[in-house]
Formats: sequence, C-alpha cells, structure tokens
Amino acid sequence: MAQTTRHYLLMYINGERVEVRGEEIFLDLATFLRRRRGLTGTKVVCAEGDCGACTVLIGRYQESQNLGLSYLHFEAINSCIAFLHALDLSHVITIEGIPDNGRLHAVQESFIKNHAAQCGYCTPGFICSIVGMVDALKGEGHRSISMKNMQSYLSGNLCRCTGHAPILHAASELNISKIARLSERYHDAHILNDFAANAPIPVDIEFGDQHLYLPVDLNEALKLKAEFPDIKMIAGATDLGVLINKDRYVPKALLSLQNVLEQYKVQDRHEDRNEFFEIGTRVTINRVEKIIGQAFPEFSKLLHFFASHQIKNMATLGGNLANASPVGDTIPFLMVAEAEIELASVRGRRSMNVNEFFLDYKKLNLAPDEIITGIKLAKPTKPTDSKDQFRLYKVSGRKDLDIATVTMAARFTIKDGIFEKFSLALGGVAPTVVRQRAIESFMQKKPWRPDTFIQASEMLATSIQPISDVRGSAEYRLLLCQNLLLKMGDVRPKWARHGGAVP
Ligand SMILES: Cc1cc2nc3c(=O)[nH]c(=O)nc-3n(C[C@H](O)[C@H](O)[C@H](O)COP(=O)(O)OP(=O)(O)OC[C@H]3O[C@@H](n4cnc5c(N)ncnc54)[C@H](O)[C@@H]3O)c2cc1C
Ligand code: FES
Ligand code: FES
Repeated sequence: MAQTTRHYLLMYINGERVEVRGEEIFLDLATFLRRRRGLTGTKVVCAEGDCGACTVLIGRYQESQNLGLSYLHFEAINSCIAFLHALDLSHVITIEGIPDNGRLHAVQESFIKNHAAQCGYCTPGFICSIVGMVDALKGEGHRSISMKNMQSYLSGNLCRCTGHAPILHAASELNISKIARLSERYHDAHILNDFAANAPIPVDIEFGDQHLYLPVDLNEALKLKAEFPDIKMIAGATDLGVLINKDRYVPKALLSLQNVLEQYKVQDRHEDRNEFFEIGTRVTINRVEKIIGQAFPEFSKLLHFFASHQIKNMATLGGNLANASPVGDTIPFLMVAEAEIELASVRGRRSMNVNEFFLDYKKLNLAPDEIITGIKLAKPTKPTDSKDQFRLYKVSGRKDLDIATVTMAARFTIKDGIFEKFSLALGGVAPTVVRQRAIESFMQKKPWRPDTFIQASEMLATSIQPISDVRGSAEYRLLLCQNLLLKMGDVRPKWARHGGAVP
C-alpha cells in the first residue's frame, strides 16, 4: 500500500542518505552537521547569517523540478539559520564533500597557493561560496570569473585575519572550464528517484510539544491553517531563524509550503491587455532578481544589494512581505508598483493591493486562517510617448549585507518634462513603509525642475516623523529622505547640520 504520511525528513549529505526524525528536525543544519554527524569542517561564528563561516551548498529537488532541470542545482546557504525542516528533499554538500576523489578541489589548491587562510576559521565557508559561484557561473555560460562576480558572491563571507585580497586572488586564478560542477559530480539517478518517490507524501512530524507539517497540496495547507490558526508559517527562515537562534523563540507548530510544488512557479500571465508576473511564495529573492530583471531593471539592481547570496538563496519574496519590516527592501517598490498579494483560506481566495496589507508595526491585514499564496506584479506599460519609470534607493551603514536605514521608491511617468503620474513610498521612517500621498498630489503636472524637487523635499519635514534607533537618528533619517528626493532630481543635497555632505 502506498505510504500516506511521512514521519521523517529525507536528505542526502555528501551523497549519503539521511532520514531525520524526532527532535533533530528542529535543529539548525550547522548544529546537526557538527554535533550529530561529526562534520566539524562547517564552522559557526555569528549564528545569524552575517559572516558566512557556516556556508554549505544545497540542491533542492522541488526547485529543480520547477526549473525543469533533470539534475539538482547547488546553491550556497548559511547552515546556522537553515533548519532541517526546511531541507526536506535536499542534497547538502559540506566542505568535507568538496574534495574530488580524495584530491583537494581546485579552489582549495588555489587557497593554499595564494596564502588565502590564516586561522582558517572562515576558510570552509569561503571555499563553499566559491564552489557555489563556479557552479552558478558555469550554469549561466560564463567562462571566467570577474571581480564583480567575486565581490557579489563573496559579500556574505567575512575573514577577520587574512584580509580579503589573497582570497579574491585565489578565486581569480581559477580556470573554471576545468572545474566540474557539483551538479555533475553529485548527479545520481538513485537520489533523484528517491526524492521523486517521497515528494508526493505529506510530512507530519510530532516531537514533544512541537509539530511540523509539510503538506504537498495547497488545500491541505489551508485546512491545517483553518484547524490551527496559531500555527506559524515558515518559508526560508532567514527572519525566523535569527529569532529562533538569538531570541530563543520556539515555535510550537510549523507549517511550510516548501513541498507544494506550484508555490515555486513564476508565471508570465496576460489578462485583458495587461501582462504580469505571478510569483509563488517559495520563489527565492535570488530567482526574483534574475527573472524580473528585464521588466524591472531597477528592482533587480536593488535586489543585488539585498543581504548576501547565501541569504537570497533561502529568503523568499513572500517572507519579506509577511515579515512586515519597515525597512524590508522589497516593500517600497511593491507599493509603488501597486502589486497585489494573493491570499487564500478554506473560505476562498482574495487578492489585496500591497498598500492595504500593512496595518501597523508587524501587523498585517491577514485573517488568522489565511496564507499568502503569491504576489502579482503588473509589468510596466510598453513605452509610448511617456514611459513608466522607477527610481529605487536603499541607504545602509555599508553597501553589502546590511539592513537599510531608509529606503525610497518612486514611480512616475513624464511627458514633455511634466510629471503625469508620481508615486512615492518611504521605508524606515514609520512603523510600516508609507506612501507619501501629499507629495504625490503635489508632483502631478509639475515640471522636472530643481525647484519642484526642493519643494517636495521640504514637504517631508511635516509628512514623516521618523524615530531614532541604532541605525540612525530621526534627524538623520529625515535628511536622508530629503536628500534622496534631491538626488533623484539631480539637485545638490542638503548638508548635514554637524558638517560634511551627506553622500
Ligand atoms: C544576515 C541577514 C541579512 C538580511 N538582509 C536583508 C536585506 O538586505 N533586506 C531585507 O529586506 N531583508 C533582509 N533580511 C531579512 C530576511 O532575509 C527577509 O525578510 C526575507 O525575505 C524573509 O523571507 P523568508 O522566506 O526567509 O521568511 P521567513 O523567515 O521564513 O518568514 C518571515 C515571516 O513570514 C511569514 N510567512 C512566511 N511564509 C508565509 C506565507 N506563505 N503566508 C503567511 N505568512 C508567511 C512567517 O510566519 C514569518 O513571520 C536579512 C536577514 C538576514 C539574516
Ligand atoms: S555562523 Fe555566521 S553566517 Fe552562519
Ligand atoms: S583566516 Fe581567520 S577568519 Fe579568515
């Protein structure tokens, strides 16, 4: 008789089959590898996704299926905030699995040759990130690694003693045409068949007072949410993982859509004469960055500075919305793009404009039995005589891997130098990201001239009341927002009161 429920998670680690049961399903991958599997090459430093010491590679069956691949595609993730329950039907490759047939990998050889390690604590993480970069670049048809590639793929790895120059040098010397991808080295029809046989079986695991549900069908997920409205939805766990590790948050019951295959889809749709993307809630930020780049180059550029590759390979767009942070990077853009959030419950489906979704700090317009099932994003209208344009800004303490101090998204159409439409959203200045309706009305029919932007920036002094916190004082945030508007209009920025121009 066919199995109807699975009470274990199925993973492979460096080619070895592993069934995870009981309390282990609630462990983070780094702890599981180090303490339960003796794979101590993976290191832990920050335990919050910031340093990359714990980087490993994973190939996810569900994602490969949705990309139409006949093999697993391996990507780097932070194992310290990746929980085993998020890795069902995944193949994990750790630093112990990187050498090939007992010989050091070309990346490891290059590290030795270039003296790219001192204490060595960060080294396994760097090696895994570089192996992931080589896999990704080869998959995209690249023949070499550029400095830009290295800086981007290594933005999630920190070295405290070697200095990054020898590490970048070690990566730059690689001849990627001679390196076999993990997807080739670890390709195994038995593993894929094993995943395929287990993928249609819902997972239901109980341990003590903790419970995990991984349904394979959305209707089942909706029934569970109706029955247990307090159950915690979990996606990539890049927000929840930090809460679990740092705030000792222990969710009693977890529900994830990770085994609901349709949730990985990005669909290009037409309705009447409008074209839009429909993005499932399991689509990662890295995939969004790649897929929508042509239609929304500005958004893709912004996502380039979202966290690191390791985080973006787990984090989802749905998770960023539901986390409802006032400095969530995607929210200002989605607001001015008038994106729709698709919601479902056993009572039916509905969609809501993102601008109506955030009620207060971390308070959503979402019923207890509802689940986010997708994001619908209308593509910009085809350029006629006036073009739909976006300008997106993120200001943070440093360029890479940092949470924003403020964010700004503007969308406008302009004809003969006069604004026809203008939308503006600001993040980091209120308990939620906020639209600036007064400025939007003011800008209608105004010319693109310095005085227009100066007047609009002055209006901000009364329309926002930011708070002071560790990322910046209220005064600094106001000045940043004003200067972003001036920057957009190519006007010289205001000077900070205590001297020095604000960049
Ligand atoms: C080191 C680090 C750097 C980061 N950098 C950035 C950054 O630059 N910019 C930025 O915006 N964010 C950043 N983040 C935050 C985080 O990565 C994002 O918010 C991410 O998009 C969250 O997605 P997730 O899939 O991991 O969500 P999760 O952590 O799994 O969940 C987040 C919230 O969404 C809810 N949820 C998930 N799925 C659903 C669903 N289907 N229906 C209803 N609710 C749901 C969960 O219950 C939870 O409340 C960073 C995080 C870390 C650890
Ligand atoms: S230990 Fe620092 S990112 Fe995981
Ligand atoms: S070699 Fe010591 S942290 Fe990088």
